Amino acid sequence: MKIYKVSNYHEMSKKAASILAAQIVADPKSTLGLATGSTPIGTYEFLCKWYQEGILDFSQIKTMNLDEYKGIKRENSQSYYHFMKEHLFDHVNIKEENTHIPDGECEDANTICREYEKLIQKGNGVDLQLLGIGRNGHIGFNEPAETFARECHCVTLAQSTIEANKRFFEKAEDVPRQAYTMGIGTIMKAEKILLLASGEDKAEALYQTICGPVTPKVPASILQFHKNVIVIADEAALSKVK
Ligand code: GLP
Repeated sequence: MKIYKVSNYHEMSKKAASILAAQIVADPKSTLGLATGSTPIGTYEFLCKWYQEGILDFSQIKTMNLDEYKGIKRENSQSYYHFMKEHLFDHVNIKEENTHIPDGECEDANTICREYEKLIQKGNGVDLQLLGIGRNGHIGFNEPAETFARECHCVTLAQSTIEANKRFFEKAEDVPRQAYTMGIGTIMKAEKILLLASGEDKAEALYQTICGPVTPKVPASILQFHKNVIVIADEAALSKVK
């Protein structure tokens, strides 16, 4: 793991966007694995800006998003589909048919997860996977569990995740209870992984991820076994890593 400590959210976002930009420039046909949540918003802002300044070209880029709430309509402003359009896709020249997010409206969990997994592994898989981290160490929506999930699957969200994500909804009852997510195995197949974390509320999860034992109880800890992981985190998020 390569760990970069930066001073704040802005610096984290700039560095993360630079790494994504380098990938896009080096291989304009890259497949990017993308994440949602408040962590990558600043990163996407830089990418949009650099596209508008003529530095980046997304015309051949493909994207595969990590996850989506189950039972949520695309038009819902809290869907990850909506998030991606708002923060990235609507502002750059990416082709809509090259962007992929699990279909949260599909009720048939087995079919959708099988198809999404197949789609990701088609071609060369994900070249660079962007990740945030949950306060309980989750990546994508892989919640702490007894085993690591290999492939895309349907998860029941942890109560702590519902609590953490309710800030985006009108009320806690509106947060979907389930989600479709890439599995830990899916994420680990990515060529390169970029994990971002900002703020003190991520400090314990990040400490366990970097310094703790590799265990499905801290899903992100599996990243210790990946050959090419870059962590970019601010001082607050790294405050427990000495
Ligand atoms: C969400 C997403 C994750 C994200 C995490 C942290 O539930 N499924 O992909 O990394 O929680 O979110 P935030 O960046 O808002 O702290």
